[in-house]
Amino acid sequence: MKRLEGKRAIVTGAASGIGRASVRAFVAEGAAVLAVDLDAQKLDEVVAALRPQGEVLARAADVSDEAAVAAVLNTARSAWGGVDIIFANAGIGGGATPFFEQTTEQWERTLRVNLLSPFLAIKHGAPLMAAQGCGSIICTASVAGMRANASSAPYSASKAGVISLVQTAANALDGSGVRVNAVCPGLIETGMTQKLFDTARARGTEGKIGQLNPLHRAGAAEEVAAVALFLASDEASYVNGQAIAVDGGLSSTLPFARQRK
Ligand SMILES: NC(=O)c1ccc[n+]([C@@H]2O[C@H](COP(=O)([O-])OP(=O)(O)OC[C@H]3O[C@@H](n4cnc5c(N)ncnc54)[C@H](O)[C@@H]3O)[C@@H](O)[C@H]2O)c1
Repeated sequence: MKRLEGKRAIVTGAASGIGRASVRAFVAEGAAVLAVDLDAQKLDEVVAALRPQGEVLARAADVSDEAAVAAVLNTARSAWGGVDIIFANAGIGGGATPFFEQTTEQWERTLRVNLLSPFLAIKHGAPLMAAQGCGSIICTASVAGMRANASSAPYSASKAGVISLVQTAANALDGSGVRVNAVCPGLIETGMTQKLFDTARARGTEGKIGQLNPLHRAGAAEEVAAVALFLASDEASYVNGQAIAVDGGLSSTLPFARQRK
């Protein structure tokens, strides 16, 4: 029996990185997946490649737009009669603007995509799950939401907000059978971080990437997808309201100068 056999899942940010890896993992484990992304063309390519392996639907949508999120949930209801898993994963980087030069517009845009959108997914998705008495919602936060210095202030604040959101949502849904958790990736090679990796490779400094965590390397999208898959599955049936770091140990580590070998 596959780990998500018979489950119906929505994955946002599905055209790239962690979302794309998660769609692949969910389909491989037997779920029907509604893949959602702003980038319609890339989404179609991802979905077309996976269709031979299972049921994968594509929906281009801006997940920070409430009407669009409600429409995505309506698509799931019409296609499947309900939904068992929502992975609210879409997000944007916060940019590199110095702290005192950041604008209200940057803050609003980052909070809208990174924090409002998982709230909207919960607001419109959880009632469907509660009606069936079970469901799993996973949101993508970040180590940047646990500690400073992993990204810009609006990004970090948005991701700290996601950690709080899954805690409050799990409690708002008490007695419903719906679980809400977050994954907190460390540095992962995806579309969001590609420039950093490309620049380091071009300079020959790739070996320095990830040196601050005890595994001394960056992560792969599939390693985050594996944790999202666990949280989505019934194996995580007693895991609720948690934010789980997938960061090679970065968030467990105090800064220190490593001894050179
Ligand atoms: N890559 C990392 O190092 C890292 C670390 C911590 C957290 N994260 C988080 O992981 C999540 C996935 O990012 P990724 O690293 O896979 O990046 P990515 O850029 O490869 O993928 C993000 C996807 O989200 C989509 N998207 C962005 N805004 C959207 C919107 N408004 N509506 C619908 N889709 C939208 C993009 O089109 C893209 O396909 C994000 O929430 C990100 O903040 C990433």
